[in-house]
Amino acid sequence: RRRWAMGASDRLKVADARPRHAGPCAATMLGEPLPASDDHGLVHPSADFSAQALVSSPQQYQEMYQRSIDDPAGFWSEIAETFYWKQKWSPDEVCTENLDVTKGPIKIEWFKGGKTNICYNAVDRHVEAGDGEKIAMYWEGNEPDQDGKLTYSALLDKVCQLANYLKSVGVGKGDAVVIYLPMLMELPIAMLACARIGAVHSVVFAGFSADALAQRITDCKPKVVITCNAVKRGPKLIPLKDIVDASLVQSAKNGVSVGICLTYENQLAMKKENTRWITGTDVWWQDVVPNFPTRCDMEWVDAEDPLFLLYTSGSTGKPKGVLHTTGGYMVYTASTFKHAFDYKPTDIYWCTADCGWITGHSYVTYGPLLNGAIVLLYEGAPNYPNPGRCWDIVDKYGVTIFYTAPTLVRSLMRDGSEYVDQYSRKSLRVLGSVGEPINPTAWRWFYNVVGNSRCPISDTWWQTETGGFMITPLPGAWPQKPGSATFPFFGVQPVIVDEKGREMEGECSGYLCIKKSWPGAFRTLFGDKDRYETTYFKPFSGYYFSGDGCRRDKDGYHWLTGRVDDVINVSGHRIGTAEVESALVSHPKCAEAAVVGIDHEVKGQGIYAFVTLVDGIPYSDDLRKSLVMTVRSQIGAFAAPDKIHWAPGLPKTRSGKIMRRILRKIASRQLDELGDTSTLADPGVVDQLITLSDT
Ligand code: PRX
Repeated sequence: RRRWAMGASDRLKVADARPRHAGPCAATMLGEPLPASDDHGLVHPSADFSAQALVSSPQQYQEMYQRSIDDPAGFWSEIAETFYWKQKWSPDEVCTENLDVTKGPIKIEWFKGGKTNICYNAVDRHVEAGDGEKIAMYWEGNEPDQDGKLTYSALLDKVCQLANYLKSVGVGKGDAVVIYLPMLMELPIAMLACARIGAVHSVVFAGFSADALAQRITDCKPKVVITCNAVKRGPKLIPLKDIVDASLVQSAKNGVSVGICLTYENQLAMKKENTRWITGTDVWWQDVVPNFPTRCDMEWVDAEDPLFLLYTSGSTGKPKGVLHTTGGYMVYTASTFKHAFDYKPTDIYWCTADCGWITGHSYVTYGPLLNGAIVLLYEGAPNYPNPGRCWDIVDKYGVTIFYTAPTLVRSLMRDGSEYVDQYSRKSLRVLGSVGEPINPTAWRWFYNVVGNSRCPISDTWWQTETGGFMITPLPGAWPQKPGSATFPFFGVQPVIVDEKGREMEGECSGYLCIKKSWPGAFRTLFGDKDRYETTYFKPFSGYYFSGDGCRRDKDGYHWLTGRVDDVINVSGHRIGTAEVESALVSHPKCAEAAVVGIDHEVKGQGIYAFVTLVDGIPYSDDLRKSLVMTVRSQIGAFAAPDKIHWAPGLPKTRSGKIMRRILRKIASRQLDELGDTSTLADPGVVDQLITLSDT
């Protein structure tokens, strides 16, 4: 068994990267049929909202969109010019691209030759413009009485002190720094400090296990890991430093030793003296960082210099290091934030995502701060101490833009509207959704109950790879259809292709690809250019393939229908089925595993694992628990299977390919839709699986 055991022999072949499911056309959202494409159910922004909006009508959108397509260089240069560049890009190199593997290596470059710094544009620029006393961040702790704030000036001081410390220990341009922190203000501070000195941050979500953290550390070889001693999430205390310690032992075994573990003392969760300490590598943040000067020279970097690496899941067990660069990402996150949320300088913006995911990179840290926005960070769980917490926070800070994931909407909807009704929420003006398709019932509850039927919802479709929003409503421009992400952002050309990669026109359903690059696009997978080309550009020559299915209705609205590859989306967290399978087969009693996604009322998708045990091992509840524990410890609690289904054998073709189509049907009990099973090496396994469904 290899560490990165591929869950099935059918992965990572070029031809196979092409989607092989029944197709997106068949999809529903959580059992709700996709709404018909007539005008019934259109939700219009109010005239007042549209009147004050940055883009206030479909016509205005269409004009701007057309310009962005006809003259991308001119369109994006104008926006880029609103930022500070130490040196301007070459005007004839605004964008250089090749998205066609048949014509040579894939290449995407924006603003080549330009030199800038995203930290300067996100922080210093506002201070220098006289906005230093504006709040940059509010922070709300796990408990309702814990809070804090930082002005842009104070943020600058803190970023500079950390940047100076990092420089003092030898971190420089191009060096990796792993950040494993909860939602403290120190998390965006650490990201910005890295950016300031040209270091490449790799934030690892602090819900990942020691094993998962060690994999990422081994891959990117950071000079420093930044963490804190512990965090409280709801009633639970999580000793983050212990997890980091375990991961550093493992990565050292893999040949990667990290010199420094900079640890923030999160006093509200755990005191210094209770923290296990490793002399030699461990350094308390509070002991060193505040001693450094609050001014730190900027490292001016090339527009195409790397800004960060963020690991995400794909069709094989090995996470992919998505690499984003500086200039294009800066311009793209800032402009998407501004338009999709109709941002105004007086807004108070809260995105519930953690900075450990792309949403927290682009729309907690960079996008909002580049606009000089007031950002709220929340450390705790959204339903702690009760399901009214979010609205308590909204009222406490006067939140105007609230951006979250459908899974939270569904979970709060299940808890009942009374928790919402207790709070005024009158400050809210725009709502946002991200991470998975939002089913129309959840959309309506979000709109009617949370937003009192006054706040447009920006259902933003995008991915770790895209850097920023790709298909999203501009809230003042279009009437909305609940559940549809509506129309492409400026400069984005989505196309829907059929199995053969032929573009389809008008009303259609198929595989969602993007034609032409956009500034926020990722540039490669760290250390694996082949996988980059194979996964994203080979399935359909000439296009970026998203891995998602999509339907376009007769009015041109886009309806995302979910992943068409071996990736599932659990509570908005992207998980490769092969990652879970890898973890399961590492259990000494597990011979083979196949994982599929199933509809889940709250999480969107749940994890359903078929497990074949080593010969002679009996099924038991303890074993079931131990298998789930293995996944929790190798990936993280969020990837724990919802169901383990004992499988004496798995349905395979004669060439040994697991027929996931059949497993999906068994998992969702669509037993009359199993289709043709005659090509299986042993059709009898299907009956066995059906019989064992309820054990
Ligand atoms: O399947 C799509 C789904 O989330 C995937 C990307 O996951 P990740 O890279 O982790 O980024 C999540 C945050 C951007 C997509 O391939 N997805 C994301 N947003 C939406 C969505 N599906 C439908 N509607 C959305 N608004």
